[in-house]
Amino acid sequence: MILARMLDFTDFDTRGYRTVDVATGYGQWVGTYEDTVEDAMDIALLDELAAPAWGSVRRAADLGCGTGRTGAWLRRHGVPSIDGVDLTPEMLDKARERGAHDSLAQGDVRATGLQAGAYDLVISSLIDEHLPDLRPYYEEAWRIAAPGAACVVIAFHPHFIMTSGMPTHFTSESGEPIAIATHIHLLSDHVSAGLGAGWRLAEMREGVVDERWLAVKPKWEKFRNHPVSAALVWRKDA
Ligand SMILES: C[S@@+](CC[C@H](N)C(=O)[O-])C[C@H]1O[C@@H](n2cnc3c(N)ncnc32)[C@H](O)[C@@H]1O
Repeated sequence: MILARMLDFTDFDTRGYRTVDVATGYGQWVGTYEDTVEDAMDIALLDELAAPAWGSVRRAADLGCGTGRTGAWLRRHGVPSIDGVDLTPEMLDKARERGAHDSLAQGDVRATGLQAGAYDLVISSLIDEHLPDLRPYYEEAWRIAAPGAACVVIAFHPHFIMTSGMPTHFTSESGEPIAIATHIHLLSDHVSAGLGAGWRLAEMREGVVDERWLAVKPKWEKFRNHPVSAALVWRKDA
């Protein structure tokens, strides 16, 4: 049996923001979410991946789809059918307006209710830090994946959370910075959880705070070249 190490964010927290749960936090952040999340975090990594061949994906499950940023990227890259699941109704409303998904359902990425073995791509962007344990996520992704499927996970890099001491957070309408419950997963936690669920790791990339980042976040000069996000591409060997 593979034991999971659970690191506690509070050991690294330098901000001390009031913390709320996922649905409460994203329900309040939704109005400004798209103005604050940077494409350099996730879209830039998707652009760099050698695989999967996006144009040959037939049906994708976008777990933790949020407002549909990933779904829109997948559509632009030729994916014809995308089902999205998210915990936060307000984020789903925005995704519905965007119209990138064929279906959108409120649900948990660890128990999606989606059809078993039906998807040749399972993808999640920037949700891992909200899961206390990664294993139920990778197991559910495996359950809904078809033989030969890919699972693409874009993660908030643990090094960045630790070194910045910063949780996932937003500024409320009243101007208060509010944290959304954040968990730290070492990259080896991803590897253990993914392998434990049956996946084979096919590709991995890390994004660093580069010029593109500094152009939008000049205050991050102190983090120049620190890893900030990671992409893992998994395969369910047929
Ligand atoms: C940072 S946003 C990312 C949204 C989208 N994937 C993107 O890249 O813009 C995190 C999303 O994950 C969702 N989420 C977090 N934990 C979840 C869970 N256990 N099940 C379903 N959705 C979850 C939140 O509601 C939120 O919409």
